Amino acid sequence: MCGIVGYTGKQEAAPIILDSLSKLEYRGYDSAGLAVRNGTELAEVVKATGKLRNLAEKTDNGRSVPGDCGIGHTRWATHGEPNQTNAHPHVSGNAKGSASGPVESDVVGVHNGIIENYEELKQKLVNHGYEFYSGTDTEVVIKLVDYYYKKYKIGPVDAVNRMMVRVRGSYALALMFKDYPGEIYAARKDSPMIIGVSDGESFLASDAPAILKYTRTVYYIGNMECARIIPGEVTFYDLNGDEISLETTQITWDAEAAEKGGFEHFMIKEIHEQPKAVRDTLASLIGEGGIDLGSAGLTADFLDSLSSIQIVACGSAWHVGMEAQYVIEDLAQVPVRVELASEFRYRKLLLTKDTLVIVISQSGETADSLAALRIAKELGIPTLAVVNVVGSTIAREADHVLYTLAGPEIAVATTKAYSAQLAAMFCFAVQLAQVKGKISREEGQAMARELLQLPDKMERTLEDKGRIQWFAAKYANARDMFFIGRGVDYAVSLEGSLKMKEISYIHSEAYAAGELKHGTISLVEDKTLVIGLLTQTQLMEKTISNMTECRARGAYLCGITSYGNYSVEDAADFTIYVPKTDSHFVGSLAVIPLQLLAYYTSVARGLDVDKPRNLAKSVTVE
Ligand code: AGP
Repeated sequence: MCGIVGYTGKQEAAPIILDSLSKLEYRGYDSAGLAVRNGTELAEVVKATGKLRNLAEKTDNGRSVPGDCGIGHTRWATHGEPNQTNAHPHVSGNAKGSASGPVESDVVGVHNGIIENYEELKQKLVNHGYEFYSGTDTEVVIKLVDYYYKKYKIGPVDAVNRMMVRVRGSYALALMFKDYPGEIYAARKDSPMIIGVSDGESFLASDAPAILKYTRTVYYIGNMECARIIPGEVTFYDLNGDEISLETTQITWDAEAAEKGGFEHFMIKEIHEQPKAVRDTLASLIGEGGIDLGSAGLTADFLDSLSSIQIVACGSAWHVGMEAQYVIEDLAQVPVRVELASEFRYRKLLLTKDTLVIVISQSGETADSLAALRIAKELGIPTLAVVNVVGSTIAREADHVLYTLAGPEIAVATTKAYSAQLAAMFCFAVQLAQVKGKISREEGQAMARELLQLPDKMERTLEDKGRIQWFAAKYANARDMFFIGRGVDYAVSLEGSLKMKEISYIHSEAYAAGELKHGTISLVEDKTLVIGLLTQTQLMEKTISNMTECRARGAYLCGITSYGNYSVEDAADFTIYVPKTDSHFVGSLAVIPLQLLAYYTSVARGLDVDKPRNLAKSVTVE
């Protein structure tokens, strides 16, 4: 996610802004910038790509931009490549936004979030004579504020409120207006923001770590509220422009705990960020008219021309492909082959020009996946990348890109990026099925509506974490675990097993339930834990009988199924339920108990959950 900060008070603003931004580096970013204002002089903008130290060097650690009021930003690219032009702050004027220097514009600002209807708003502003220098949604929202500020001539709060009524999406915005020196205006919807105060000074940030050094007295500004921030004092307003009063909170966390938002580890924080990651990813692919993959250049004609799909990935991304294979083939009836990238790159490839090679990768830098992409391109096969990191190598080299909007994922064990990839692939499957005429437009729209309900159902699934933590403690010393399922449940089993292995170091295997009796069941003995995925109604009874065969050999059985399938409790010793949803998409829910089980098992074993031994977040070597 991007990080925003702000300061107005009696000290030099730039050094405080740089220090505050350094406390947000953990969030991941690709560029940074600041705007500082000295009294009534014009604000000075300085931007730099790469690490924050580049911005510090450009500003001589803040000394070259004097002033007591300023805003700053670390950018995690979602719209527009990671470069200086797209770096924040952005301005309401033209052209100069790409460079550093004095700001002639009336409004300058920084933003964390995603403006879903930015293209529609951009066109509106172009029609009113605005020009754009960047590819960002942020420049649009700042020019929209400027538009209302000039049109109604009432003031910043009015202009910000009018923007909030018009914009769809998420934002934490910090703005400075040329006519209001020493003041910062803030607005928030869904993206995090806190505002701190101390004697004669005020601070703004995306997250507590940025300001804990300066104050622990903060306001949590609410959704669709805006604030006027002056030294040591903050005034809040509702959408009508009426003043509202907010209570201050004293932050008791230490800085490190605050980076994890109060969670003990990044992994558990990211598990809880999954609903938002999926919500944001779906919002970028599902509009008023249903699923639209146009942003990736996947037109209906192109999709209709495809006769087969080849998915290539590694690790959890490969598990996404395994699950997508079942869904795409069932819905679109287009043959799908899923291949480990490390195998794909060395085998005799029998691909035809009407195949689409889909490379799934969180980092967009995995060596085997990148090699596979390059081989497909050498063969002249069209390629699609499903990637979380904007501007990553795989994203840049693929013919088409579907970005997941999970934000930076810090824990080595992927969770929210995996879930966002699944959501993107479900959208692809439904759209392909509709284009191929295998489902009607109405059925496609019904499925899109079902997908949009997944984030709330994921929230509900997370509420069961207490039971799962208790269960994990029981099995923290298990020697072997088996995750079994059929169809989509088998693909989910693969991810559950990998999560358990990579962070708890317990040997586990994922198996197609029907395959157990062909040898592996000989490993099952007293106290072996067998976890059966039982969400596929047509197949669950068969998996239950496989589980019962394991119990006959001493296994302890855990079943994961949808609410309503209460017969599972007759067979399993411990049952976990997830909310009902379309059987094609239920994997997004069933995986959450498995992530939690692995996490709590690792914690119970006292292991380094976020940085497991021998593993890297991105395997950029063979
Ligand atoms: C998953 O928890 C692991 N960290 C690993 O399997 C990962 O999914 C794999 O290395 C692929 O990484 P990528 O998505 O960045 O290409």
